[in-house]
Amino acid sequence: MSEKLRLGVNIDHVATIRNARGGGLPDPVRAAKLAASAGADGIVCHLREDRRHISDDDLSRLMAEIDLPLNLEMAATDEMREIALRHAPPGICLVPEKRQELTTEGGLDVIAAKAHLAPYIEPLKSAGCLVSLFVDPDAAQLDASLAVGATAVELHTGTYCDATAGEVQASELTRIQNAARYAASLGLEVRAGHGLSFDDVAPIAAIQQVVELNIGHFLIGEAIFSGLDSAIRRMRALMDRARAEALGEKSA
Ligand code: PXP
Repeated sequence: MSEKLRLGVNIDHVATIRNARGGGLPDPVRAAKLAASAGADGIVCHLREDRRHISDDDLSRLMAEIDLPLNLEMAATDEMREIALRHAPPGICLVPEKRQELTTEGGLDVIAAKAHLAPYIEPLKSAGCLVSLFVDPDAAQLDASLAVGATAVELHTGTYCDATAGEVQASELTRIQNAARYAASLGLEVRAGHGLSFDDVAPIAAIQQVVELNIGHFLIGEAIFSGLDSAIRRMRALMDRARAEALGEKSA
């Protein structure tokens, strides 16, 4: 049996809803526990500079209360590294961050930030964190990711998911497939995420070099209609089916 494709559930937007009113509800840590029982393999959260969703206290509670590995998304700033080193989560994903953006727009420009990233990543790895870089599906960015010491890359699927024209989506999918193959040939662990939904997850899940998908916004939105447990289980089933079909297996 082939290695299972992992699902990381991003619970940021449970905190977004909580923060709309202040107070403690809905609790993102409760969502993380529910995600675990629904079949998630990891929990993802993004501690932003402006703390618009996840807070420092959420991060402490997630580290203390959940059994699944936590993948902390963060910008490569001094403040974030100090926080990351204090908690030493199993995974850290470095992302670009702009204050005005609604969500992460595009991958990290690892080529431009090479001189900053190599010494930035080193202490995180020494603290036992697996460092991944969120990058566009571009060979030069993958070369640079390896050069700065990343263990994994997360390929940005946002352009693929946002494409409305079929041929744009098809060419974006080809870019992601080629990038996944190339990253794996470099020895990088390959992950993917951003913007994925029930409608577009299967072709990404079918890419055999991809070992993990990280999905948040769609699942939390879908939870309004069908519940979080059901949304995660359905996503899991779609991923597993697509991967099994790609491998020519009879069932997931
Ligand atoms: N991966 C990374 C690096 C991200 O920044 C995000 C958004 O926080 C996601 C995955 C999840 O994207 P979405 O919420 O659109 O599923």
